[in-house]
Amino acid sequence: MSNLISEGASQTSGVERVPVVIRDQAQEIIASIAEEIGQAVKQSETADKPLVLGLATGSTPVPLYRELIRRHREEGLSFKNVVTFNLDEYYPLSPDHPESYHRFMRDQLFDHIDIPKDQINIPSGTAKREEVHEACRAYEEKIASYGGLDIQILGIGRTGHIGFNEPGSGPRSKTRLVTLDRLTKVDAARDFHGEHNVPRYAVTMGVGTIMAAKRVILMAWGRSKATVLRDAIEAEPVESLPASFLQAHDNVCFFLDQAAASELTRFRQPWLVGFPEWDNKLARQAVTELSLKIGKPLLKLLDKDYQENGLSELITEQGPAYDLNIRVFNEVQHTITGWPGGKPNADDTHRPERAVPAKKRVLVLSPEPQDDVLAMGGTLSRLAQGGHEITVAYLTSGSLGVPDEEARWAAELMIEAEEGIGSKLAKQVLAELKTKGESDNDSVQLRQFKGYIRRNEARSSLQACGVPSKCVTFLDLPFYEEGRYRRFKAGDTDRDLLLKLLNEVQPHQIFVTGEAGDPSSVQGISFSVFSEAYNQARQNVWVSDCYVWLYRSDGREWESHQIEMAVPCSPDELRTKAQAIYLHRSQRSQVPILDEEKTEVWELALERNRTTANNYDKLGLAEYEAIECFVRWS
Ligand code: F6R
Repeated sequence: MSNLISEGASQTSGVERVPVVIRDQAQEIIASIAEEIGQAVKQSETADKPLVLGLATGSTPVPLYRELIRRHREEGLSFKNVVTFNLDEYYPLSPDHPESYHRFMRDQLFDHIDIPKDQINIPSGTAKREEVHEACRAYEEKIASYGGLDIQILGIGRTGHIGFNEPGSGPRSKTRLVTLDRLTKVDAARDFHGEHNVPRYAVTMGVGTIMAAKRVILMAWGRSKATVLRDAIEAEPVESLPASFLQAHDNVCFFLDQAAASELTRFRQPWLVGFPEWDNKLARQAVTELSLKIGKPLLKLLDKDYQENGLSELITEQGPAYDLNIRVFNEVQHTITGWPGGKPNADDTHRPERAVPAKKRVLVLSPEPQDDVLAMGGTLSRLAQGGHEITVAYLTSGSLGVPDEEARWAAELMIEAEEGIGSKLAKQVLAELKTKGESDNDSVQLRQFKGYIRRNEARSSLQACGVPSKCVTFLDLPFYEEGRYRRFKAGDTDRDLLLKLLNEVQPHQIFVTGEAGDPSSVQGISFSVFSEAYNQARQNVWVSDCYVWLYRSDGREWESHQIEMAVPCSPDELRTKAQAIYLHRSQRSQVPILDEEKTEVWELALERNRTTANNYDKLGLAEYEAIECFVRWS
């Protein structure tokens, strides 16, 4: 993807209705936002008025808060003259609840800087119901008494919410009690150990409150926000997407990493908004999109189709249609292979993988158990059949994703199996589960036990794919074992553990995921740990002979034009894959469900593979039951 970057108010594309700043990585953006805040803090020290800062919670601002803390510790940035107002709080929820935003702000920022406690304001999650309205009014008045918010920091939810202003919130809404959207609750379900524990309501500043801030900074990382951001930035403002109201703000800026910006027209269809350089990649993107859009196979596209769809420049430069169609058709055709480890004794000029060595050392890195089979269960089966030397390494135990009910089931089974004697651990687990409150953290023992559950699921799942247990490794990276969702922090030990594995296996092929994930998600962190370890390994000989393949297990599959290796699955192979996913028992019914319909994780994974195959079919290639797909990382 091209690295088009626009600064603040520049009008790169014309279709963007707010200033947008894009950088490859969140970290590059964080420094400039922290600098802006730091400057404002310093200016307020010389003025007669405190700086009034509106703050957000969630994963997005975590790296910003870490940078502000660093500046406080290392550069003496002081917050004594700062007054803060947080956007929102769940309702009802006690400030001591581990998931309350009161607690979050203390842990992530306030306890580490020198802000006086009486200058911190967060909506109350404990006001009596009949007093909430008055508390909201008082919150607004207090903001006004400081002359309004100077800078408001925002994230964005997948519903398009800012604060907890869910779809339907009006542009002039004020601080109030709201009902959370289903998708917002699904996104919070992991933090609360299940959707049923997420509070129904929240108190939030209104869109109008946010709009009244003098400066608004919205940040977003990762591909999961890309679609909603495109609409918020490029479509007409509508109540069904509250973030779109920010278009009317005269001093707003959206700061995005490349993954979050990836759906913007300037990246998806750059030919509609400028004069792009037509390299092979972009030509393939335009031609496949055209084919899918107008419902004509690649080889049937006419000059006229290109001209009528904004692609006359492409056809003038690289046409006629006949030649361009064939070229792109061949490129897509060459992505298809039933030999993900390379086809022995075959000409590999146009194959995604090398024929030599015929038996490869393959390393599959799975952030949590199940990521592997979700995205590449079929490919794993093929690699196993091909006799490659496979190692599947689970980077984290995945214990945080195991519901208590599953742990109870397993502990009871253990005890029963041991004819009433029971192991010590199982008994301790059952005792803990009896007294544990729904928001209590798991003890180390319970996490360990839940980790065992996931280990066993992973082993049996891989067996279904023909990968024996001796090929499996569990790294239990410390960032996960010592962390909580949204608050993980990877360090050198994580990198070194993975580096050691890489150097032991010396793989010819690595399959890995998470490159476009939210940087604070398990997948996102796992990928950054991997890229650090891989970079450190670079001086080793094996690296020069290693291909790294990116897979996606987060529900957002590669697009047809991006795919570099497409591994078809027969109906039987797809059934095996479904079985492999299904064997992750503790994960059933826990996927983020995107609509009211209950759809199981294995069904969604199969659907994605079928969609990829269907798109290849529509492009005029062979018709497969399903396709798993990969992109090569460079
Ligand atoms: C948090 C808030 C929300 C979040 C949004 C994104 O105070 O108001 O609007 O900014 O839900 O959450 P994350 O950052 O966790 O993806």
